[in-house]
Amino acid sequence: MKAAPLYVTGVVGALIGIGALVAGGCANEQQAKGHELYGHYCSHCHGDSGRQNEGYNWSSMPDPKPKDLTNKSEMSTLKDKDIFDTIYRDMKDTGEGGDEIGDDEFGVPTMPSFKYTLSEDEIWAIVGYVRGLHGTKLEFNVEERKKQLAAALVTAQGNLEQATKTYEEAEKKANEEAEKKNVDVDDAAYANELAAMAKAKKELDAAQAGLNNFTARPGKGVSIARPDLTVKPADVPKLVELGKRYYEDKYGCNGCHAIGGEGGKVGPALDRAGFRLNPTWVYRWLKNPQAMNAETRMPALGLSDADAKAVTMYLTTLRAAGNPEGSSNKPEEAPPAKPES
Ligand code: HEC
Ligand code: HEC
Repeated sequence: MKAAPLYVTGVVGALIGIGALVAGGCANEQQAKGHELYGHYCSHCHGDSGRQNEGYNWSSMPDPKPKDLTNKSEMSTLKDKDIFDTIYRDMKDTGEGGDEIGDDEFGVPTMPSFKYTLSEDEIWAIVGYVRGLHGTKLEFNVEERKKQLAAALVTAQGNLEQATKTYEEAEKKANEEAEKKNVDVDDAAYANELAAMAKAKKELDAAQAGLNNFTARPGKGVSIARPDLTVKPADVPKLVELGKRYYEDKYGCNGCHAIGGEGGKVGPALDRAGFRLNPTWVYRWLKNPQAMNAETRMPALGLSDADAKAVTMYLTTLRAAGNPEGSSNKPEEAPPAKPES
């Protein structure tokens, strides 16, 4: 008899829970998705609830340390789109002689970009979740954004149809004229229409990609061709130096990986990467980690071919003796170390 009231409370509680779920519908789904993605891709640095020194990687990171996402007065100064752009951006070379970083352009290399890993839709779900961490709500209209992208695609399709028709008419006219005068067809007579059609085709491709990236992860199904990693011996030192700079100042690899005991511990320590890992494998891993391990926490950071080559060259020089502390942090899902070829 004693247990009865508890049982009753449990049922009522569950019913209220279901009611809220039905009422919330799609918004709740986005909330759950945002929570799950945040847990997988952000919490090691920012903490489960967004507080400082809560994530297991927080204290190992180089400065600046991740800021407090629960700080309402500070976080409220950022617009939804600002937060989105922090997560969805191209990495900037913050080293000496690198890119110019403007006042309003976020340039902390150890906050990774997820532009090349997650869909736009997923990132909006994360932004919504981050808003909840400091007690506010996402105001950005994500459905409207999707509608705009879909409308842009329809417009681009229409433009291409029109441009194709105009081109075909111009070409036909040029052909008829040539026949009448019994001369060769003057290609120049419809060159403008041809160029306009090519431009419309490009715009259609861009609109299609925009809509695709909204719903699908960008690296999905993209396979990385075997790279040519040969370097003239005289060029090696410069390339290694560049790779080291990119490692720290552009892609912030040190936010997640340690070398010589310095750096984050989300990924394995890389002191012995030069012994353990095959350079071709490293290159392909850097370009698209998700293609090799869909669930890895390491994001694709948008490395160009040249950048990936430089960073790979740098990693081949890491050949510390022994088995330094830190490599035991290697997560279970880590890819098997490949022998050097
Ligand atoms: C490797 C560690 C790391 C990971 C992973 C990480 N961050 Fe960060 N984050 C940082 C650092 C470092 C900063 C820069 C210091 C600061 O301003 O907080 C930062 C800054 C931020 C900011 C503040 C932006 C601003 O303009 O001030 C937000 C918001 C944020 N991160 C959200 C996220 C979200 C969401 C994720 C997951 C999708 C994520 N971070 C993943 C390290 C990380
Ligand atoms: C947000 C954290 C994060 C960032 C940023 C990051 N990595 Fe990783 N990295 C990982 C994790 C986690 C793994 C473990 C493999 C897995 O998840 O399958 C990994 C694995 C690796 C491996 C394979 C290591 C081994 O021993 O098997 C290499 C090499 C590597 N990363 C290099 C880099 C480089 C270079 C950069 C910068 C361009 C970088 N990582 C940026 C998290 C990160």
